[in-house]
Amino acid sequence: MDEETRLIRTGASSTASAKTVNPLIQRGSTVLMPDAASLYDDDQINYGITGLASPAALQTALAELEGASNVTLYPSGLAAITGALLAVLKAGDEILVVDSAYKPTRRFCDRLLGRFGVATTYYDPALTSDQLMALASARTRLILLETPGSLTFDMQDIPAIAAAAKARGILTLIDNTWAAGLYFKPLTHGVTLSVQALTKYVGGHSDCFMGSVATCDPTIAKALDDAMWDIGWSVSADDAYTMLRGLRTMATRLPRHHENGLAVARWLQQRPEVARVLHPALPDDPGHVLWKRDFTGACGLFGVVLKPAPEKAVHAFLNALRLFGLGFSWGGYESLAIHCDPQLHSRSFPVELEGPLLRLHIGLEAPADLIIDLERGFAALNSQA
Ligand SMILES: Cc1ncc(COP(=O)(O)O)c(C=O)c1O
Repeated sequence: MDEETRLIRTGASSTASAKTVNPLIQRGSTVLMPDAASLYDDDQINYGITGLASPAALQTALAELEGASNVTLYPSGLAAITGALLAVLKAGDEILVVDSAYKPTRRFCDRLLGRFGVATTYYDPALTSDQLMALASARTRLILLETPGSLTFDMQDIPAIAAAAKARGILTLIDNTWAAGLYFKPLTHGVTLSVQALTKYVGGHSDCFMGSVATCDPTIAKALDDAMWDIGWSVSADDAYTMLRGLRTMATRLPRHHENGLAVARWLQQRPEVARVLHPALPDDPGHVLWKRDFTGACGLFGVVLKPAPEKAVHAFLNALRLFGLGFSWGGYESLAIHCDPQLHSRSFPVELEGPLLRLHIGLEAPADLIIDLERGFAALNSQA
């Protein structure tokens, strides 16, 4: 053979030469089939888009975490939410969405689902399951839950809502990113679809996007798998490997986020500038009873309601922080802070807060150092108040 041909064929064997701890990062769009009949055999993997070694290993591990029979992977957490909705909804359906859902979830419902004939009704997270079911009509296909809710950390009675919805033939989908699939098990509580932004705690290092949808329902699992092909989502082998690597230490990292978060939250409760801390693991939080009943731990994300202060004082607080980064995508090993008021305007139900709302993500740093940083923030806030 000519050198051109030899250089194309040489070294192409994919046989692994040694057994490693972790799965192969198998990069591939083309999958070579053993014979002509296999090309159209749907029981064989014949295209790289369905995911090769590392995505398959991640799916197996996430199914174990979630207690699921099927897990689908998406290029981001938001894509997992929108992907699950696209897989199970059709024109003419209605959905009920908790008002404290992640804001881009609302944007998808309002802008895209609306255009395709799916109507969204937002509901107050404080509703009981009976009050919520009273909003459902014959066209209601799905209830979208998120608990604790984004920014306001409201708790909902998920087992009661899941049971009531099931009795009416309504699907339930929960954004379970806060509990990371570890501290709350939606599928064992009767929820149909458990969604996670793996970008947060599973990845754990603020360097990779991915989302997952887990289910135990075979019909829903088929709809999710079909939609992967219909729409053409795929995740890269490298990103799946990165997520799997994060998952290995998640159960070791999360208890530290829990402890550090509570230590900082308790300290904040004593500060004269703070009206309230929104953290369901604190005994005086309105959601504590539900959290204690259904969850086995807390992550590092919570809200801080300040006493009334001008916007410039809130900005001064954030700008004075040196350890806390100012950024949105939480769940990494590092601490973050944002102010939330610009995001609350899109809610359908008024959020009654005493003053400006901050959201903190407490990372794996020593709480004492984080507290010194927050003291710096309060000094700056007070200088502007
Ligand atoms: C509760 C929640 N769900 C989903 C997402 C979306 O995740 P991603 O950034 O991977 O799209 C986020 C991101 O901040 C989130 O906070």
